[in-house]
Amino acid sequence: MLGDADFSWMRNYGTALYMRGPFGRLFLFTVDPRVIQRLLSAFEKGHLAVAKWRDIIAQNGGIPVVLNVHSWLARITLDAIGAGNYQMSMDYDLGSLQGNENELAKVYENLFAHAHYNWGDADIVFLDVVGYLPEWIIDLLRNSPDKRSKQMSLLAAGKEGGKDIMSLLVSAKHWSATISTEDLVAQLTTLLLAGHETMASTMNWLFYELSRHPDIQIKLRKEIIARIRREVLRYHPIQARTTRTAGQGDIILLSEAQKTTDGKTITEVAVEKEQRTIVSFDAYNRLTSIWGEDAHVWNPERFLNDNGTKTKTGLGVLSNLLTFSSGERSCIGWRFVILEMQSTLCALIPNFKFSSPPGNVVIFRVASGLMLPMDVFL
Ligand code: HEM
Repeated sequence: MLGDADFSWMRNYGTALYMRGPFGRLFLFTVDPRVIQRLLSAFEKGHLAVAKWRDIIAQNGGIPVVLNVHSWLARITLDAIGAGNYQMSMDYDLGSLQGNENELAKVYENLFAHAHYNWGDADIVFLDVVGYLPEWIIDLLRNSPDKRSKQMSLLAAGKEGGKDIMSLLVSAKHWSATISTEDLVAQLTTLLLAGHETMASTMNWLFYELSRHPDIQIKLRKEIIARIRREVLRYHPIQARTTRTAGQGDIILLSEAQKTTDGKTITEVAVEKEQRTIVSFDAYNRLTSIWGEDAHVWNPERFLNDNGTKTKTGLGVLSNLLTFSSGERSCIGWRFVILEMQSTLCALIPNFKFSSPPGNVVIFRVASGLMLPMDVFL
């Protein structure tokens, strides 16, 4: 029967064993959870952080240290998107966790915060001047065409590459129409931008909440992570809103009747052609009619039952959450996010205890393109 051989190997030889297959080829057979996690998580970068953090704590004589988790998580997620053979990764190890001086990693460090805050004089001058530069100079500043085209011809010829997005895009097998180099670079830049800081900041919020809830950290070490993951996505949706412009006018029924400021009750809203609409993912994720009276409380237990909701809305790609938006333009990276969160948590949580830094620190959610954590010492 299927499994009999495996069960007996496990019983007789343990959880990992080498065996010879046809033509004497050596196989590793394993049911060891850690080994499996490592083998199946090509893009898992959390274990590198574990080693580095252990070193830092050891250098401090084993005494807990205050770490800038934000910067570490940014490096974990950047490396995860870069490396690996997963369909959302790019088969390019940035090595920023290893401390590599990487140009891309440097540019992406705190990109959203820099884009919205902290503008130095040089940035302001540069942004002003850049609009007057000829296209070829901008191109030259942006990339190094020689290196790029060499790599692309290797990928196109099938000499390099795998299942990562870069190889898929370039490979003629997967791409019926020709795609220009500019389009390809634009697609990859979009993926990096859409995927990197979103994921890093969500993880940031997750560790922030865990440091405020030591009881949940203890539970988390014992239990499965899905609930925590969903709750942080609900509570801190990194893109708080989206906007749409109506292609045509419409009258839309409300789910619940609303009172207007002059006391009337309405059951529908009118949308005019070309009207800009703002959808608040953040507020939707806190609707008491959906999430219950404690919608403003960070409480992973809500996902114990019935998808965490009082009412099912059919919105979103996961558990009625709008964090990844909904419908045809919803996030294409959400499965990657879930897997990456899982692997990072599995690597870090059993090894470290997280707590807020000493002193009276208040963390604010700052609208900075994304919802970023900003700390203030009182
Ligand atoms: C926690 C992490 C993430 C969150 C919360 C998130 C959220 C979102 C949201 C809300 C949208 C819709 C934007 C709108 O219509 O206004 C979106 C779109 C998108 N996301 Fe994500 N995202 C995350 C991670 C990722 C990752 C890892 C990737 C890819 C590697 C990615 C790629 C994209 C792309 C390409 C779109 C545009 C889809 C389209 O317009 O058709 N995202 N994301």
